[in-house]
Amino acid sequence: MDKLIIEGGIALEGEVPISGAKNAALPLMAATLLARGRHGFSNVPRLRDIRTMQNLLGHMGALCESGEELTIDTSGIATLEAPYDLVKTMRASVLVLGPLVARYQRARVSLPGGCAIGARPINLHLQGLQQMGADIALEHGYVVATAKRLHGAAITFDQITVTGTENLLMAASLAQGTTILRNAACEPEVVALAEYLRKMGARIEGAGTEEITIEGVTELTPATHEVIPDRIELGTYLVAAGITHGHLQLTRCRPEHVEAVIRKLQMTGLKMEVREQSIEAWGTGEIQSVDMKTWPYPGFPTDMQAQFMALMSLGNGVSLITEQIFEKRYMHVSELRRMGANIEVEGRSAVVRGVGRLSGAPVMATDLRASASLVLAALAAEGTTEISRVYHLDRGYEAIEKKLAAVGARIHRVRDIRGA
Ligand code: EPU
Repeated sequence: MDKLIIEGGIALEGEVPISGAKNAALPLMAATLLARGRHGFSNVPRLRDIRTMQNLLGHMGALCESGEELTIDTSGIATLEAPYDLVKTMRASVLVLGPLVARYQRARVSLPGGCAIGARPINLHLQGLQQMGADIALEHGYVVATAKRLHGAAITFDQITVTGTENLLMAASLAQGTTILRNAACEPEVVALAEYLRKMGARIEGAGTEEITIEGVTELTPATHEVIPDRIELGTYLVAAGITHGHLQLTRCRPEHVEAVIRKLQMTGLKMEVREQSIEAWGTGEIQSVDMKTWPYPGFPTDMQAQFMALMSLGNGVSLITEQIFEKRYMHVSELRRMGANIEVEGRSAVVRGVGRLSGAPVMATDLRASASLVLAALAAEGTTEISRVYHLDRGYEAIEKKLAAVGARIHRVRDIRGA
């Protein structure tokens, strides 16, 4: 397993181009199952999760080719199953459920288990499909869903769910009649999926609001689409500018997708010049401690909580951070503490008392965003940090050490010969 070695204490300076968003690309890839033929996507990040989705679609009989563009030809779909091995490495595999039942009337998808950030059930995906007429059975760890043809339904989510909204959006596009999704997720990734579905011929209104109306059609056709920039990668590099007191130009991004993050980081003292497709950010003086609560979009994203906590570890006072989306998303706390952070967790909240400095230490990545917070802390820490299990980071940050090295970070990757 690879390790990252980071020597901290350098103010980062220069330009970082933002990659396409993994969480936008994955549902687009699943949507290819809705229409037979060749689909094409540009700005797809080169990441482990994308390869996992390619493997999953390949297992079903799709032909995936990744060059400048990712093309997916779904003419040969023969296996309507997402096996345990793939679902366990990537929960987003569950996104194939809705498209498969809608188009092929049958799907067998392994149940994802709990994960490092919480229990993460998929009951709302399943309830929605049942309301649309699917029979759902749980057999040998698999969800087996069957339906003659799904029908439209009025579905109110008990809780806002991003992939749940995406799954039902895809299923409803080929259902008979009208589906209304209430308390739907408003995330930009949901809007991006709806845009692609519309290009394929779907009739969708209201994506990006809490109520989405979908009039089912009988057939969809493949199209091409550009993946939106990754707002979480953007937020992570904004924190990198703040935590290292650096000066970064973040380009090829969509600042309107990170308004809550921009507002919060401005309160910490980060200065920003926001342009249409780029943000110039520079850290000034002391890092101000501020409180933060995670919310569904357009609130402060849970996927930025760990990175924000790394920043608050070096704040000038006390910050109360409350995680409202995933109950256990504090796996980074013990590792940040090993670097000298003063953080106490109580239930869903963390009290972060700023310390004067962090010091490099051997630490372990536990999930994608936790790993990003360790990289950020390491960039600011005195001395050398060794981050093991960086495969978590490779799931969601394209070329992270190259991008950081290009703006002055002393970072390199090594193979851990002990295989720890
Ligand atoms: N939930 C249920 N039942 C369901 C679905 C969700 O109780 O059927 C609960 C979850 O347990 C959680 C909350 O609802 O407490 C929200 O979960 P959501 O379904 O929105 O999460 P997700 O769709 O599984 C996506 C992202 C995550 C991101 C969350 C929240 C993708 C592929 N994943 O997950 O991204 O944290 O939305 O914004 O889009 C990441 O990129 O690091 C990541 C974990």
